[in-house]
Amino acid sequence: MKIAVIGGAGYIGSHTVRELLDGGHQVFVFDNLSSGLKQNLFPDAHFFHGDILNREDLAIFFNKVQPEGVVHLAALKAAGESMTHPEKFSTQNIVGSLYLIQQAVASKVRYFVFSSSAAVYGAPQYNPIDENHPTNPENYYGYTKLSIENHLAWYSRLKGLHFAALRYFNAAGYDPNSRIIGLESNPSNLIPVAMEALTGKRKELLIFGNDYQTPDGTGVRDYIHVTDLAVGHLMAFDYLKKQKQNLIVNLGTNEGASVLEIVQHAQQITGKILPHRIVDRRPGDPDSLVANPQKAMDILGWQPKYSDLKTILETTWKAYQANL
Ligand code: UD1
Repeated sequence: MKIAVIGGAGYIGSHTVRELLDGGHQVFVFDNLSSGLKQNLFPDAHFFHGDILNREDLAIFFNKVQPEGVVHLAALKAAGESMTHPEKFSTQNIVGSLYLIQQAVASKVRYFVFSSSAAVYGAPQYNPIDENHPTNPENYYGYTKLSIENHLAWYSRLKGLHFAALRYFNAAGYDPNSRIIGLESNPSNLIPVAMEALTGKRKELLIFGNDYQTPDGTGVRDYIHVTDLAVGHLMAFDYLKKQKQNLIVNLGTNEGASVLEIVQHAQQITGKILPHRIVDRRPGDPDSLVANPQKAMDILGWQPKYSDLKTILETTWKAYQANL
């Protein structure tokens, strides 16, 4: 299939591009390189430098490529910042996505895979979280994702677009074959921050609270290897093409790891001391967030292969070392 990957130079985008190429698809990357990296582009995927907020860029790209499928990952993702600078998130994540969806519909795209998030659920009422869990985002970032899921449902009803919304849990790790080693600048997620503390790029890891209702008091999350996520996109296209039905699905592992467990594993794997200090909680962080991924397993035949902590941390460490 001819697939346009919007945001294909980013962290999850580049891993998705790699899996789509390896799966035999023809891939076209559209990215404004605001956080995406040239280094993450592949010679076997065509690259177009453009911005989803520029409707002319979108029109030129779609008219030229005429893709049958779209993956949309061009979004801001810092949940904390979405609470202090919501305007940025309304514009990029909502307005930008709507321009893209409208262009996709105008260009007769049939299959649309959307990068959604566990943040749509908000504070969990139970764990592991299945797709029937109420959606009640606690941060504006999560709301933007839920809003686009709902817009896609309307466009599907009104215009016949088939969509999959993939609700990612905590994406982590790097390509096990080291074909992608681009690092995010100014990361705020736990594992990249931990890596920076290990390489000396930052003084220490601040652990946001140790008084949560979890076995060791630190926050528990479901870390899912980015290659497993990427494979989920490939499978979502197969599903949309065969079933001609929409799909909303969690991508996670059903296993939680605490911040302290990540610290311990990272120290073990790297043989280094990870300097860390407990500080106050970060506002809006739930105690635990773990996926029930049964639906993805049953419907797509999806199975996480690389999402054990060892592989996640080893592949990440390798990418960081390659950049030293
Ligand atoms: C958040 C969003 C998620 C989004 C992701 C992308 C929510 C509930 N989750 O995940 O949907 O896709 O960001 O960026 O909105 N931690 C520290 N010190 C740090 C960083 C993190 O202790 O320096 C802790 C956090 O308190 C948390 C865990 O590590 O318990 C994971 O945090 P993080 O990597 O930021 O991801 P989430 O907040 O879970």
